[in-house]
Amino acid sequence: CGIVGYIGHRQAYPIILKGLKRLEYRGYDSAGIALYDGKTIKLSKTKGKVADLQDKLENEISTEGTIGIGHTRWATHGVPNDVNSHPHYSNSGDLVIIHNGIIENYDALKTELKKRGYTFTSDTDTEVLVNLIEEVKTKENVKLGKAVQLALNQTIGAYAIAVFDKNKPDEIIVARLGSPLAIGVGEDEFFIASDASPFIEYTNNAIYLEDGEMAIVRRGKEVKVRKIKDDTSVDPYLQELQLNLEQIEKGGYDHFMLKEIYEQPNAISDTFRGRMRVDEGIIKMAGVDDNLTKLLNAKRIVIVACGTSWHAGLVAEYIFEELVRLPVEVEYASEFRYRNPVIHQDDVIIAISQSGETADTMAAIKLAKEKGAFVFGVCNVVGSSISRETHAGAYTHAGPEIGVASTKAFTTQITVLALIALKLAESKGTIPKSDFHYYLQELERIPEKVKISLQSAAHVKSIAETYKEAKNFLYLGRGFNFPVALEGALKLKEISYIHAEGYPAAEMKHGPIALIDEQMPVVVIATKKGHYDKIVSNIQEIKSRQGKIIAVVTEGDVTVKELADHVIEIPETEEFLTPLLTTIPLQILSYYIAVMLGKNVDQPRNLAKSVTVE
Ligand code: G6P
Repeated sequence: CGIVGYIGHRQAYPIILKGLKRLEYRGYDSAGIALYDGKTIKLSKTKGKVADLQDKLENEISTEGTIGIGHTRWATHGVPNDVNSHPHYSNSGDLVIIHNGIIENYDALKTELKKRGYTFTSDTDTEVLVNLIEEVKTKENVKLGKAVQLALNQTIGAYAIAVFDKNKPDEIIVARLGSPLAIGVGEDEFFIASDASPFIEYTNNAIYLEDGEMAIVRRGKEVKVRKIKDDTSVDPYLQELQLNLEQIEKGGYDHFMLKEIYEQPNAISDTFRGRMRVDEGIIKMAGVDDNLTKLLNAKRIVIVACGTSWHAGLVAEYIFEELVRLPVEVEYASEFRYRNPVIHQDDVIIAISQSGETADTMAAIKLAKEKGAFVFGVCNVVGSSISRETHAGAYTHAGPEIGVASTKAFTTQITVLALIALKLAESKGTIPKSDFHYYLQELERIPEKVKISLQSAAHVKSIAETYKEAKNFLYLGRGFNFPVALEGALKLKEISYIHAEGYPAAEMKHGPIALIDEQMPVVVIATKKGHYDKIVSNIQEIKSRQGKIIAVVTEGDVTVKELADHVIEIPETEEFLTPLLTTIPLQILSYYIAVMLGKNVDQPRNLAKSVTVE
């Protein structure tokens, strides 16, 4: 979910509305806003998107007011409908709250509150929380801030909340545990949001609350930060933001996803810029250099991640094993955390997460830390929870990724992981010096080669046109490109809702081959290096069963060209770097199919960009 709040001298409504639109990538099944105009709280909420809210709200209430809060929801408790949308009132109607996260013990708390006469209109855990705050406030006769602190100590779960009291409309109380919360500090005005994008045009100064902290944000006063646990005060750390607005807007593309696909050449160079000195043959990465002994002494690497980041982890497994000769395991964070995994002190855990907020990945990190392992993070969002929880790390520098289907995050994750592998391989001597130099040069050429790969877009679009009505797709790859097949299938599923499966090409004969007939498009990654001859045989197997073959090949390819129905060429590169190129046409293919089918590319149904629930 995304939360936004404002308190200051401007009209709150336009700021909150625009902020919610920027945060819609965090969830978009319902939305709501509460404003205070000096007399009463006015609240409007609805199932649907922020645009639906805008239509409803402007007919329903006056938008006057210089204090307000807003929410865009990704349902956890209670179906997405008007009643379950946020904000939620307390029973007296004095308090109003927005909440991102889950209160796990809400049922027990609800039973207690019911005994004291509280009633509930929604199925949400959030309505329980706001009434718990009200109950504590009345019973203990304390101020709102204190009531929030005491109430949160009775909860188990995760939250970022903002709450205000209509009897004290000069302050908003915010708190965080497990879900992000930033306070933008302007002149006599404050902005509250899940990330800085809603307030970036108003101020560059922000306070990021740490887990377990709350803040009292009062009009015309300094922000007071306190620890939720024991109410001790904390010195707020005012941070200067580097983000600019242009970075988070669509920049002329029809969709964020397309913009982000085209940003990949720059994103990849941003990722290695300053870290790689090709002439001198040096890789410098603070997080790696500072912990080099630890990393070099690792007996094993365990990668934990979810979704697309997990696919990047699989590519990294192949790269690390090839270059560093170190055993690597790649785990879904959600599986790892729930099965008492075997972790040794000399294991290094690498956690990969674009958002840096994924709940399962976070829990896996905490578990690995408890077991004494060293945890290294690969995140995109600077200052995100995971980047702070890990012992060390390297950012991907992809810039904000807004499209729910991850694209540039994936390729920059592979870039960072390849850099780390190269650095370790060089330090360990598992690759010859001359190869190391050559690989750096080749990595430096990748952005240019990604640009060339992007030029196939028109051709890929025509392939999309041919197959957009297909009910199923199969994606095949081997070696370094097996994970790319998985990622290609995931992209198609996510945004076009067409069933797709990724498979190691050789495994096809153990099952998926039964699915192949003249209706079945099969996307095969068949680059020159790697097991080319083997994949050619796989293609023949598909062809003899009338499957339709869409092959991603190295430029100049002859053999596959003769067999395949369509070929998409990518430039030649070192085998371990091919995923950075082969991924590109697969992203474009899924993009155009989804557009042609009229799907919501940037905000596919049922998904969210950042999944802060388990
Ligand atoms: C969600 C997103 C995916 C993403 C996954 C992991 O499901 O929709 O695109 O790959 O979470 O997210 P993370 O931020 O940890 O990489």
